[in-house]
Formats: sequence, structure tokens, C-alpha cells
Amino acid sequence: STAVSVQSAAPSAVAPVPAASKEITILYGSQTGNSSGLAKKFAKALEAEQYQVTLSSMGDYKTGNLKKTSQLLVIVSTHGEGEPPDSAISFYEFLNSKRAPKLDGLRFSVLALGDTSYEFFCQTGKDFDKRLEELGGQRLVPRVDCDVDFSEDAGAWFSQVTAALSAGLGSAALKTEDLTAQVEAEESSYSRDNPFRAEVLENLNLNGRGSARETRHLEISLEGSGLDYEPGDSLGIYPENDPQLVDALIEALGWSGAEEVSVSKSGDLLPSREALLRHFEITVLTKPFLTRLADITGHEGLVKLVSPGEEEALKGYLKGRDLLDLVQDYHIQGIGPDALTGLLRKLPPRLYSIASSSKATPEEVHVTVRAVRYEAHGRQRRGVTSVQLAERVQPGDTLPVFIQHNPSFKLPKDPNTKIIMIGPGTGVAPFRAFLSEREESGAQGESWLFYGDQHFTTDFLYQVEWQRWLKDGVLTRMDVAFSRDTEQKVYVQHRMLENSKELFNWLEQGAVVYVCGDEGSMAHDVHAALATILIQEGGLAPEAAAERLTEMQRQQRYQRDVY
Ligand code: 2AM
Repeated sequence: STAVSVQSAAPSAVAPVPAASKEITILYGSQTGNSSGLAKKFAKALEAEQYQVTLSSMGDYKTGNLKKTSQLLVIVSTHGEGEPPDSAISFYEFLNSKRAPKLDGLRFSVLALGDTSYEFFCQTGKDFDKRLEELGGQRLVPRVDCDVDFSEDAGAWFSQVTAALSAGLGSAALKTEDLTAQVEAEESSYSRDNPFRAEVLENLNLNGRGSARETRHLEISLEGSGLDYEPGDSLGIYPENDPQLVDALIEALGWSGAEEVSVSKSGDLLPSREALLRHFEITVLTKPFLTRLADITGHEGLVKLVSPGEEEALKGYLKGRDLLDLVQDYHIQGIGPDALTGLLRKLPPRLYSIASSSKATPEEVHVTVRAVRYEAHGRQRRGVTSVQLAERVQPGDTLPVFIQHNPSFKLPKDPNTKIIMIGPGTGVAPFRAFLSEREESGAQGESWLFYGDQHFTTDFLYQVEWQRWLKDGVLTRMDVAFSRDTEQKVYVQHRMLENSKELFNWLEQGAVVYVCGDEGSMAHDVHAALATILIQEGGLAPEAAAERLTEMQRQQRYQRDVY
């Protein structure tokens, strides 16, 4: 067994330690489901040890209970430029306001999820950690900041937490890894850490000839996996790197590709070419990676690039460049395969919004994936997973997959509730799942879809299905914005504003708003359009409109799945 067991520590003689107990609250703030998935797993493991666990999304948590809480675990991801996930915003603001209570009797610990390729790595977790201490809380164990390949670090944090909890109670330490493994075995045995090898049944290009886009519709079999999902959930797919890129990298490094490197903590060995194909991320550069590489190699140019005062230059260099660029630009030679791969991040799975309902297509899952191809720094860049799916995966092949549940993007419980769906491009995928589900269950609530892409003739994804649903009444209204058919660009938010009165009426009638797709520009502009509608039609002041949208997010009446 690899279970970790830690001996009880002697109680500290200095600070008065808040009392340990078997009551514990776990709060999570999740955007794509990683934090909520971990929180649920850890909650089950603690419950198996007779802890009384209060598990809650930050969005649902009654802040009045905080004062009465003696032990708190916070699991939170960071979004965009250091921001909290949508569902965590109101709790975050509460905690950082004057209304926040003193938390003298609180023992807490924070697990922060993030991505080292972003400047504000784990910022939200850092903010919570600092604030809980300011309010008087004492750390159970130090915060752990996880990168995109978070499984191991998250597990290690939980082991420390359980050791500290049982040390406080003077009881024997829990065997965390056994516990979480047991929890996984009870559900489906397939998970992020143990993906299912799923057969691809269908792989089609949805775009017409002459389109600038290539969007694949994949149908994947879940037969025999025991995996189940709901509309709004995502499919995780473990990709393989582009073999051409891997070969170019191996050549540039002067390796043969046959050198053995270890690909896991348990020391499994693979030839370096295999390892680069399937286990390590080579398409994104991060600051911690460059810093460690500079340390190891002592390479003058690299040392300068990561030195204090060079932050802007470093940021500029990292943007859009990959490992091959670095090796070529800085003539990185003579570093051993094991030394280099030891610094790389594990190749993380990619999450795709599920485009099907398991009620309509049992034991199957559909996803909608746009091939990412563009030119940068003098070379063709190709999205790792999307181009693999577009170019190198045929029906009959298998892919390692898992289901990522996403509690913050869900159809309303009441089938009569109206829904407004805004999903240009591949953002429309979950709405195919929503409508398919509502059709199967005979839901009566009205629905309104805003969709857009570049050209009507070549880029109208799933056109025939929307039209059928419109005819059958499953879809009540659809407004489309094809941005490159007219001289003036029209986007989904323009269609929303053209229909502001009607849209406002739907909101007044309790409609839930869903936005899926590009975060950077689209989701931001759609948010602004919603605010404008509240101001124009509801007579709200701008600040009140912003408040209202936050409140709607908190009540899950405004949900986003943005990437
Ligand atoms: P474009 O490519 O012509 O700019 C799906 O990708 C659709 O979203 C396309 O029609 C694309 O238009 C559009 N789009 C791009 N930026 C957008 C934004 N800021 N708001 C809304 N739609 C946008």
C-alpha cells in the first residue's frame, strides 16, 4: 500500500489551538468542476471516517453559518486574470467586506487550483488564505497551490489535512489514499485519475466546403464504463501531442527518442519519444519551468530572462511560444531527457462541453470540437487535442476519457422554467444537450437560443436539428448572428440588444440565462449587453444592474461555461 500515515504531533504549547472536532465544513468554488470534484471526493472520504461534513458550493453557502464553524476547508480555483469563479464571487466579496465576522475559533486550510502559465497563479486561493488568517483563523496545514496537473498535489494536501485533523483528536491518522481510492471504487471506477478507454463511433466535420473553420462532431461510446452524465457536464479527453512536433523537438534536443525517462512518481519508465507524446506538456511554457531550467543549465541567456526586472520581457517571450521555440531560440543542448522531463508539467486532459443527452443517446457522449490552427512566431501552431481529433482519430479508435461533472451549469430543476441560451460557435454544444434532454423529458418551459458564427452557408452548426426543434416546439425562438455575411459585423449580443424588451420580459418571468463559449471577448460583451438590457428596460442604475447580475449568478439564474 502507498497509504500515507503521519504520527500525531504534540499539541503546540504557544498559541491556544482552537478545539479539534469531528465537524468540518468544505466550501468549494468551481468554474469547470475540478474544485467541486475534489471537494466531493474529500467529503466522502471524511464521512467514511465518521466526520460530520458540511459540503457546499460557495455560491449556496449561508454565510451566517461561518461564525459557528470551527473547521473549514476551502477548495477554490482561479479564473482569468486572478478572479474567483462565478459561483464564488459573492462569498469572496462577503469575506472581504466589513460584514465578514471575526473567525477566532476557526481552523482552516486552503487548496488552491490554478495554472502556472497565468500571471495571477492561484490568486483566488491566496486571497482566501490571507483573508481567513486576517479574520482570526488558524491554519490547520499550509495552503497548497496546484498547477493544471493537480491530482497528486491535491491528494498530498488532503493527506496533510487528515493527519492534522486526527492529530488534533489524538486519534490514529487516516489512511487518506486508501479512503479516496475506496470512494472512487464505489462510484464508477473511471475518473480523471483512471480514464476509460472509449471507442470513437463517429467523427464528422460540421463545416461546409470553403469554410475557414473545421469543427468536429464526435460520438463516443461509454458502453461498459458505468459512466453517466447530465447536460452541462463536460467530457475530459487525454490527448497525445503532435508526433511531428515531438520529433522536431527530439531532433532539436539531440536525443534519440529511445532514452528511458520516468513518467510517474512510482517510477514507470518509457522511451522519451513515447513520454513526450503522451505524458508531458510541450506546447505551453511557464515561468516556473523556465526558472528551474535556468537553474539546472546555468544557461546565460535563460538566467537573464528569468532574472528580476525582466518580468515584462519574460511575459512577452512566453506568450504563444512552445518548448521547441525555447530549445531553438536558446540553443538548449546537452540536457538529459530525464532531467528535462522532470521539469515539465503532466499533459493535462482537455474538457469539452457535452453536446448530447444520455436520455436520447444512452451509453454515448457527443462533443463539438473546433480545430485550432494558426500561425505564430513563424510557425504553424496546432491545438493539441483539437487537431489530434480532427486529423488523427478515426471511428474505431479509442480515447482515454472521463466525465467532469459541472454543478454550475445545469438545466433548471423545474421543467417549466424558461431558458435563454447564448452560445456562438462551439459554445452551442451544451444547448444541443439541453434541448435534447428537454425533448426527451417532455419539459414544457419555453427556450430561446442565440447563436452565431462567421457564415450562414458553411458554419451553421447543427442547423437541421435546431430547425426541427423549432418546428416541434422544443425550441421556442432562435436568433442568429452571422458575423461575416454582412458588411457590418453582427454578433449574438447585437441580437440580444435588438430584442431587449422581450428578453427583459423573459428575465422578469424567471428565465435562466446560460452563456457558453469564448470567455475573453464574447462572454464579456454578452455580460455587458445583459447589463444594458437591465438598465434600459428595467430602469436600473449601472451599479444596480451589475449587482443584479451578480445576484443572478449567485442564485444560478445566470450560469456560464466559458473558456
Ligand atoms: P468573427 O469571427 O467574425 O469575429 C463564433 O466564433 C462567432 O463569434 C463568430 O461569428 C465570431 O465572429 C463571433 N465573435 C467574435 N468575437 C465576438 C465577440 N466579442 N462577441 C460576440 N461574438 C464574437
